[in-house]
Amino acid sequence: MCGIVGYTGERECAGILVNALKKLEYRGYDSAGIAVFDGDRLSTVKAKGKISEGLEPRLAALPRFTATAGIGHTRWATHGEPSDINSHPIGNGRVSIVHNGIIENYRRIKEFLTEHGYGFESETDTEAVAKLLDYNYNGDPLDAIIKTVAELEGAYALGIIFREHKNRIFAVRKASPLIVGQGDGEMFIGSDVTAIIEHTKNYYLLEQGEIADITKDGVTFYDVHRNVIQKELQQADWDASAAEICGFPHFMLKEITEQPSALKKTLAPRIKDGMPDFSECGLTDEMLKNYHHIYIIGCGSAMHAGIVGKYIIEGLARTPVIVDMASEFKYRNPLLTKDDLVVIISQSGETADTKEALNLANKVGADTLAIVNVVGSSIAREAKMVMYTLAGPEISVCSTKAYTVQTAFMYLLAFKVAYARGTISEEEVKQLTKELMEIPDKVQICIDKQEQYQKVASRLMSADSLLYIGRGLDYALSMEGSLKLKEISYIHSESYAAGELKHGTISLIEEGVPVIAVATQQELFAKTASNVKEVKSRGATVIFICTENMPSLGGDVDYEVLLPAARDILMPLVAVVPLQLIAYYTAVLRNCDVDRPRNLAKSVTVE
Ligand code: F6R
Repeated sequence: MCGIVGYTGERECAGILVNALKKLEYRGYDSAGIAVFDGDRLSTVKAKGKISEGLEPRLAALPRFTATAGIGHTRWATHGEPSDINSHPIGNGRVSIVHNGIIENYRRIKEFLTEHGYGFESETDTEAVAKLLDYNYNGDPLDAIIKTVAELEGAYALGIIFREHKNRIFAVRKASPLIVGQGDGEMFIGSDVTAIIEHTKNYYLLEQGEIADITKDGVTFYDVHRNVIQKELQQADWDASAAEICGFPHFMLKEITEQPSALKKTLAPRIKDGMPDFSECGLTDEMLKNYHHIYIIGCGSAMHAGIVGKYIIEGLARTPVIVDMASEFKYRNPLLTKDDLVVIISQSGETADTKEALNLANKVGADTLAIVNVVGSSIAREAKMVMYTLAGPEISVCSTKAYTVQTAFMYLLAFKVAYARGTISEEEVKQLTKELMEIPDKVQICIDKQEQYQKVASRLMSADSLLYIGRGLDYALSMEGSLKLKEISYIHSESYAAGELKHGTISLIEEGVPVIAVATQQELFAKTASNVKEVKSRGATVIFICTENMPSLGGDVDYEVLLPAARDILMPLVAVVPLQLIAYYTAVLRNCDVDRPRNLAKSVTVE
């Protein structure tokens, strides 16, 4: 949610900043801008809209900047509509800043500054910070930053430049992420590694309240008392090509096709002697035996992975699992105790609601296990135990490979809990684990059948609204299918437990309403087939997704997608692929911006 970048070095910085912003555009694309040291001035160029439509043409129309240091921002609007004036960088000619986060007490700061003669142009909370910095500035930038952050309530990652401190960039953060990249004779800041990876793999993670003072030759870190801090240089374990589109029309399609390798990479190191192995995070069988409850918490697709987890953990381990939407968890005063395990799922590791849920769990004293994709992210650092999904960077706003590897983790956890609790034997765990490792090949088979998803998409593209139905794990999965479709194609869709349909929702069915029915569970097949009949006889157009070993429903369905068979409980990992690709091709046919759906951002760092 908002991406910030900065560069200081010997090269011309405008192009470097714009390219880095493009890498972060998945965090927000309402507007973008840069501010650079331009002779004795700070020059700012910013524009509403995506970078290619706003900032780039505006820069192209200006004489080329020769500046070698500056900051940049790509915005997901919170305070103030997307507009040129509300775009960042924001400043007053003496100081300029870029901000990711929300300043909760900005009104009070604004009032104070207005009384002291400051005027405000934008509707943003950020302008209050820029002007407060100016107010506190007396020639010493560090002093101004320390005084300013002491006044701020809320979340922020800030990149700051002062006209009088040429080619020097300052950065500070609380709650929102920020890294400092170290190159050879050049330094960077970025909201995440994606922004800098094409220049360097070496970076420092800025911790809460730390301040970075950066020149082209290096960085000095301070705490809020101005003490110098020593920090360890980190190294990204992936390279620039992982974040490149590599000839695919969209990142989403690229990331869907990466799922077999993401699954293998995530699973293989966590299996030892045929058994799930969680020793890297310290979660033992003894601990798993003793937890009273397991909570699984996440938002959106991450929560959907958790719902699959609930079904399989409860089914195999006979242990109660409570799945919560992170945004509801804290505020429903949950019956959480220190004897519970809280599993936190997040791709970005920065989702504000999920972080709040983790804070609460830590406060209560429950054990917390984070399943996170972004290494070193806040959730990864704040949980007691962490295991990383090894999906590589996910750029498309719409999550695909991250969901799949999160779900794969749910299986490892379920097998482990069930073994620890003695509800399944070692042989059974080994057999299940072996079958889990065969899933990536079945996922590949689904990926290779793109034509059939395109056909389904051509039937869905003109729909106003549609339903996904399924029972048991198929219901859990259909939630994810429905979210994918509505998120990127803007077609309204709902997922319903197939048996629940006749308690109200079936009244929505009329001639031609598409219903996507998922039926991969042998035991529930006959029941789902009856529900299909019910909607078909009321005029629905039925797209039926089932395994190839199941009986055909003949004239009851309009289009059938056949999946390679696996053990029932493993089927969500296979069946999600057609759901992702149907959503993808529907969005493509509707000319939607697949990787950057309207109103959304990848990393949702506000509650
Ligand atoms: C949907 C999607 C979102 C995220 C959710 C959580 O395609 O991407 O629903 O799953 O915002 O994000 P993370 O996993 O980063 O916490």
